[in-house]
Amino acid sequence: MTHDLSAVTPDFAEADIRSIAAKLLQDATAAAQPTMPDIPQPLARPLSGIPPLSAVTAQAASPSEIIFLRGTTEAINLVAQTVGRCFLRPGDEIILTVLEHHANIVPWQMAARETGAVIRVVPVDERGEIQLDAFESLLGPRTKLVSLTHASNSLGTILPVEQMTAAAKRHGALVLIDGAQTVSHMPVNVQSIGCDFFVFSGHKIFAPTGIGALYARRELQQVMPPWQGGGNMIRTVTFEETTWSEPPAKFEAGTPSVADAVGLQAAIEYLLALGWPAILRHEHELLEYGTARLLEVPRLRLIGQARNKVGVLSFVLPNRTPEEIGRLLDREGIAVRAGHHCAQPSLRRFGLDATVRPSLAIYNTTSDIDRLADAVHHIATSH
Ligand SMILES: Cc1ncc(COP(=O)(O)O)c(C=O)c1O
Repeated sequence: MTHDLSAVTPDFAEADIRSIAAKLLQDATAAAQPTMPDIPQPLARPLSGIPPLSAVTAQAASPSEIIFLRGTTEAINLVAQTVGRCFLRPGDEIILTVLEHHANIVPWQMAARETGAVIRVVPVDERGEIQLDAFESLLGPRTKLVSLTHASNSLGTILPVEQMTAAAKRHGALVLIDGAQTVSHMPVNVQSIGCDFFVFSGHKIFAPTGIGALYARRELQQVMPPWQGGGNMIRTVTFEETTWSEPPAKFEAGTPSVADAVGLQAAIEYLLALGWPAILRHEHELLEYGTARLLEVPRLRLIGQARNKVGVLSFVLPNRTPEEIGRLLDREGIAVRAGHHCAQPSLRRFGLDATVRPSLAIYNTTSDIDRLADAVHHIATSH
């Protein structure tokens, strides 16, 4: 017996999935026309066999600018190992912030070690806000790459990435934005940010684990060398020479995670259907309410009080370790993260190794926060 499956075929078309991922990064409500990014200086140098860029045109995130990978970590590694390895020279500088997740530190350390480049770090103030003056003073002719988290996963700080990208561009640097903590919380428009790369993980937006995306401007994809070799990324193969597929396939060696990509598509459609105004309003209310309720807890120290935050409420108590608090909350059925959150430098800045970190999302309610605050209050006042 045969079945007519033509109706389901479009659901599995890769182009649809790429388009929906691109849509997430070009929110229609955002500003009209982008400013043209400068020609990235590192790419003005010719690579062997690859012509130098003669002109750069700013573009929206179009489907072909989306590269599917396992997630944020893999995407940053791809950029570090292609752009980093090929374009960085001894003494070149990579600028990161103290708020970065380890995924946006370690790949650059590896690239720096191989190339002789140097990492410079932007500090934050007591609230956990980026010190923009310090950032500006780190920028200079040696700055080749600036890689910034869009929002800190440990403190919640949202970085002024448009402003920071514009400053980096004035020095001809390439800019990568780690959007792991923003894609599910706010609209993102890679054009108005003006960045060269934007990365995110599907599991942060309710998709399966093991799928994520790298937005890389088309002109950069053309000059970036391939990363992994294998099937799918080639045009022709002989034992003497191999030629590459057009990007983005050039960066997607091997059988893709098709099932996860279908899950990602469903997750993005779900999120976009809820609508950003509703998401922003809901999460903002939860954050304000949660901040106020936690600050009522005696001796609770809230780490990260930036004026512009995503819904992350990192805290410590003097009478219990974060791990103990995490376990006690778990017994009440309250799931939080306790530990260093893969962002050790950001916590060390506040003299800490670990915090308790409830994070708020669209499915939370104020009664969840009441239960959390009451439980934390009880822990803080019991011996
Ligand atoms: C800001 C930030 N960057 C990078 C990552 C790493 O993401 P993944 O483990 O999905 O690659 C995370 C994950 O928590 C994150 O919050």
